[in-house]
Amino acid sequence: MRVIAIVNQKGGCGKTTTAINLAACLAAQSRNVLLIDLDPQAHATLGLSIKPEEAERGMYEVLSGEATLDEVITQVLPRLSLAPSNIALSAIEQFLAGTPERERQLASRIAALQEPYDYVLIDCPPSVGLLTFNALIACQEAIVPVETSFFSLQGVVKLSETIKLIGEKIGHEISVRILPTKVDRRAGYAKEILLKMRERFSDVTLATAINLNDKLREAAGLGLPITEYAPESTGFKDYMALAREVISIERGREKDRQTGLGPLSRSGVLFAINAPGAHDVKLAGDFNGWIPDRDVLSLKDEGGLWKKFVFLGPGSYQYKFVVDDEWREDPQNSVVAQDTLGGQSSVVVVEALTVTMVKDHAVAARSGGEPQVVPM
Ligand SMILES: Nc1ncnc2c1ncn2[C@@H]1O[C@H](COP(=O)(O)OP(=O)(O)O)[C@@H](O)[C@H]1O
Ligand SMILES: [Mg+2]
Repeated sequence: MRVIAIVNQKGGCGKTTTAINLAACLAAQSRNVLLIDLDPQAHATLGLSIKPEEAERGMYEVLSGEATLDEVITQVLPRLSLAPSNIALSAIEQFLAGTPERERQLASRIAALQEPYDYVLIDCPPSVGLLTFNALIACQEAIVPVETSFFSLQGVVKLSETIKLIGEKIGHEISVRILPTKVDRRAGYAKEILLKMRERFSDVTLATAINLNDKLREAAGLGLPITEYAPESTGFKDYMALAREVISIERGREKDRQTGLGPLSRSGVLFAINAPGAHDVKLAGDFNGWIPDRDVLSLKDEGGLWKKFVFLGPGSYQYKFVVDDEWREDPQNSVVAQDTLGGQSSVVVVEALTVTMVKDHAVAARSGGEPQVVPM
């Protein structure tokens, strides 16, 4: 079971939209999902058509010990369940004031769940108080939605530090991933901000970005996830891509366990393009902030095959070759997608220790070590 907190102290950055729609898209991809609404404003509850005032028991009762988590859960769609909240939850801080272990209440309630879930997503309130602490202690992973148009590096750095500190304090590491949200393609600066974000936080920024899309707002107003309201929309495609990326991290972790390489192992991809007449070939993608050849190891063989090696963790990545200053998709790869910059790019999906671009080679590499190219 993966427990993922959706957290950012800033309101309006897309936490609830992400919690609801990532949950629905994971369920659409056959995962059993529980969404916990940990915000007294109950937007996730409302966003799934449950009237907060009619939810007799919710997260207040769970955290105060009056009910178990299983008892308050309602199934809202196949494979998607909700633990609702309402305004009563705002009084929980006071209720728990004198309680020892008050920051570990949610973790112990989740540990006691009877129903098996693949994913538990926690929609956090827009503040770093007791509720958010409970979420961070209960999770192994955090997704931090960051509104791209008002991106503040400072705010994100601070939040990541807080999360890291909490991880140290409680003795388990929380992997933090940043999700760019509300990307406005029409605004010229959005592209620049997105590039900066990927450059600055390349390790932790998710490959998927969520575009601004009115359908997402409308769906929330009608109490429906985007999977039910507008399955053709950009919002739907973006959240499905996010769900796939989140699932690919799951596969990577599973393989890491099987191979015994542990969390430090890193896979890489060997990209290759045949360009015998070219003077210069570079590689750019969302993994290096679209800066040609940044963080890329280059090799060229006699026949004019240019090879580019990049350490890449599990996930989905977009890329292009830059052949004598001309940007090109990979001619060997038929998988393409519209990129967040408005053009079209090739796409590679990395599971742990996989290589796809060169037919007869597999590449496995450990972090810090030399990449080994081994014949398959
Ligand atoms: N990608 C998006 N495109 C359009 N509107 C969005 C998008 N993401 C969020 N919104 C809208 O922005 C507002 C704030 O989003 P919300 O998810 O509630 O943020 P938070 O939970 O962080 O406060 C809501 O009205 C929501 O419908
Ligand atoms: Mg919210």
